[in-house]
Amino acid sequence: MQGFPVTRAAQRKTRPSDDGLRFGEVFTDHMFTMVYEDGLGWHSPRIVPYGPFEIDPACCVLHYAQAVFDGLKAFRGADGQVRLFRGDRHAARLNRSCDMLCIPPLDPRLVEDSFAALVAVDQDWVPSKRSTALYIRPTVIATENFLGVRPSRKYLYYVILTPVGPYYREGLNPVRILATDQHVRAVPGGLGAAKTAGNYAASLYAAREAEQQGYTQVLWLDGQHREFLDEVGTMNIMLRIGDTVVTPPLSNGTILDGVTRDSALQLLRDWGIATEERPVSIHEVEEAHRAGRLTEMWGTGTAAVISPVGELGFGSARMTINGGRTGELTQRLYDAITSIQYGATNDAHGWTRLVRAPDRALTDPLPEAASVPAM
Ligand code: COI
Repeated sequence: MQGFPVTRAAQRKTRPSDDGLRFGEVFTDHMFTMVYEDGLGWHSPRIVPYGPFEIDPACCVLHYAQAVFDGLKAFRGADGQVRLFRGDRHAARLNRSCDMLCIPPLDPRLVEDSFAALVAVDQDWVPSKRSTALYIRPTVIATENFLGVRPSRKYLYYVILTPVGPYYREGLNPVRILATDQHVRAVPGGLGAAKTAGNYAASLYAAREAEQQGYTQVLWLDGQHREFLDEVGTMNIMLRIGDTVVTPPLSNGTILDGVTRDSALQLLRDWGIATEERPVSIHEVEEAHRAGRLTEMWGTGTAAVISPVGELGFGSARMTINGGRTGELTQRLYDAITSIQYGATNDAHGWTRLVRAPDRALTDPLPEAASVPAM
């Protein structure tokens, strides 16, 4: 792993206890930063004390949202060791998002090393309790100050860390979701497959409507026909219909290539369970429910891991799934993925990477002035 210069925080914050951790509300002592300028490329990677950036009001990201992010987790196992889960895949996805937003590519090895190096510096912050983790949020924003609409010539890559508990209040208890044909999050040819700020802004209005009706999340239908399942809230969706697990395909470019989605599909294949990546019509879902063949449904995502769906609303229909309880396969997937993440079982696919305490090369001090990246 490559080393990065580190400026240590003069003052350490008080870490919250593992009990009652929520999602993304407290941040650790350090962050990783690196800047890009046309002609110079990406340069000056470093770890510095966590702190605010100074941003010009004309900074283009504030106006046109040329911004991407990703999200992954580090876990502390019962053995006390800290493991990163599939950092390489998250780094590759961040680059795909960059490409779609006309952001110059980053070196994926450097990105993966930035996760490991930052977690190593702040490893006291990785909580120990099962179902907690240290969430890693790499982000790239355009930083040139101008109001024309074109790709920026300057960027900032930064990574921050937050100790987290379960994403949903419900934890692994089933959530209620509402399928909507009134709002869409993505269309073919759009940015649905990118993890970009605008997709999340576009989800808020429908999410608020669903919440007002007592639902936890929106089940998005495709933007063209308003019929085929897309994503659920911030997650990918999977259904067990008969003996097969079906999930919408990535091929039309509207769905995020979820790392937990990929992990779940791989485990299902390992277990000899039939999987199909194909368009799933909401009418097929209604029909399967009527026929008693829709036995389980769950969302997959880094934040929530596996989130069972206990009820699906669509128009006037209310479909209860598996009696509103967590299904057997849903639970098996949750247990298998989290066991790998916490190092409690054999990691047959090599998905985890151990994070080690920083060595001397990582901790050479930088002058204090280097702690805030220039924009
Ligand atoms: C994920 O679970 O992968 C997410 O992206 C959730 C995040 C937007 C909070």
